[in-house]
Amino acid sequence: MTKEEILEILAIARAIKSGALRPKMRAKSLAMIFEKSSTRTRVSFEMGAAQLGMHPLFLSSKDIQLGRGEPMKDTARVISRMVDMVMIRTFAHSRLEEFATHSLVPVINGLSDDFHPAQLMADFMTLQELGLDKDPIVTWIGDGNNMANSLLMLASKLGFELRIATPKGYEIASRWIETAWGFAKESGAKLRFGNDPKEMIRSANAVFTDVWTSMGQEAQNEKRLNDFKGFGLDDELFSLADKNAALLHCLPAHRGEEVSDKLFEAHSDTIFLEAENRLHAQKGIMVWLDRHAKERAK
Ligand code: CP
Ligand code: NVA
Repeated sequence: MTKEEILEILAIARAIKSGALRPKMRAKSLAMIFEKSSTRTRVSFEMGAAQLGMHPLFLSSKDIQLGRGEPMKDTARVISRMVDMVMIRTFAHSRLEEFATHSLVPVINGLSDDFHPAQLMADFMTLQELGLDKDPIVTWIGDGNNMANSLLMLASKLGFELRIATPKGYEIASRWIETAWGFAKESGAKLRFGNDPKEMIRSANAVFTDVWTSMGQEAQNEKRLNDFKGFGLDDELFSLADKNAALLHCLPAHRGEEVSDKLFEAHSDTIFLEAENRLHAQKGIMVWLDRHAKERAK
């Protein structure tokens, strides 16, 4: 996805939110396949689709044959014959790619072990609304996980400065760093990677964090709690950022781990605006896909 395409989706999302655009996608359908739990992704896609006049279909892998071992490629070949678009939340990113390869309709990543792009659309929309989208210094403090990878892709494509602080051993995979440097060459994004949260947060305009133990990593929880010591955001660490810095968190949050309860509550307006923007941003994605599917069909 290019910078122009990302900005076009966000422009649609903001126009829908403001009421300037009232798109309808009547008689279109969205299948939502979940192999992991979800609150925001499910509700934002399901309500977003319903508000667009679509028929959303929630499919938990616990209930469909996928959960009993039916291959992803067969699931894709069946479901994509019956709906207009699919959103999927899964484990290995290759599962999502396998589905997309065999799907006859557009497939939206609703989170994989490697990426969470639908979240990042809401996150950048939030920065736009806060007036923090023009050459911001953005800092990531935490795990080199799906959220960090997606933020890295966004920064390197849009061309803003991103500093990533991860504990040793939890760095972003080198293949994603190489991909990002490739995009950054074109966009001019400044990227920094390190293991010192204090150094990376200095003067940041927006600070992002996420849980230390993502879905599927529960067995590592105890080790991670130990390895991430010093990476918890609290008043002291956050005071090194710009005095007007925003704190973003995709949620769910683990208070007392990646963020203190006090700091979280002080920034709850931004964090819940970010959560609300999932609804608008996900509508933006679906409307954009519908428009471009129509163009391709012409
Ligand atoms: N942020 C996010 O994707 O939340 P859910 O896991 O609740 O969907
Ligand atoms: N990194 C988290 C994000 C949850 C929305 C996870 O994958 O569990």
